[in-house]
Amino acid sequence: MEFFEVLRKRRSVRRFQDKPVPRELVERLLEAAFLSPSSFNKRPWHFIVIDDREKLKALSKAKLGAAGLATAPLAIVVTADESRSDVWVEDASIAAEHIQLAAFDLGLGSFWVQIRNRMHDEGKTAEDYVRELLDIPPNYRVLCIVGIGYPAEKKPPHGDEVFEPEKVSRNSFGKPWK
Ligand SMILES: Cc1cc2nc3c(=O)[nH]c(=O)nc-3n(C[C@H](O)[C@H](O)[C@H](O)COP(=O)(O)O)c2cc1C
Repeated sequence: MEFFEVLRKRRSVRRFQDKPVPRELVERLLEAAFLSPSSFNKRPWHFIVIDDREKLKALSKAKLGAAGLATAPLAIVVTADESRSDVWVEDASIAAEHIQLAAFDLGLGSFWVQIRNRMHDEGKTAEDYVRELLDIPPNYRVLCIVGIGYPAEKKPPHGDEVFEPEKVSRNSFGKPWK
């Protein structure tokens, strides 16, 4: 698929068919993640591939807005070693988006479940909930979980309305771009 077609047609998918994602495709998703740029090329990521139904169900309870993980056959938990990079958030975000774009190109749907800065309940962060469930060491921070699978919902592609020229300036902030 042409790159800009991928960009326009990728939409968040939160309902999935009951069909596993083949191992070859999981490998392609990881390839996309590892092709990400990172600050000083430090590559601080660690990706946790989840294909265990019980774990997926438990992750779907990490916070509000994670429920779609209960029907996903696959999730990739995106973590990074904060002791190795002060900009691990940016590094991990780029990797997560690479995974989402690659998923769409491979005929899969995906959605991003934000974990960092979100709460599981009043007393526990979503990050601690995921950390305990998956035995993640303390120096690794959890950015997000990408839920992935064959889509059970269809959404229209993004159109030209996504382009907001008022959010672009030319030479100094607020000066019209065109
Ligand atoms: C940083 C970030 C956090 C997000 N968190 C969630 C989330 O917790 N749950 C969810 O269902 N979608 C989440 N999303 C997906 C957005 O809701 C979605 O990308 C946005 O509504 C645009 O829709 P589209 O992906 O179909 O273009 C998140 C996206 C980003 C970039």
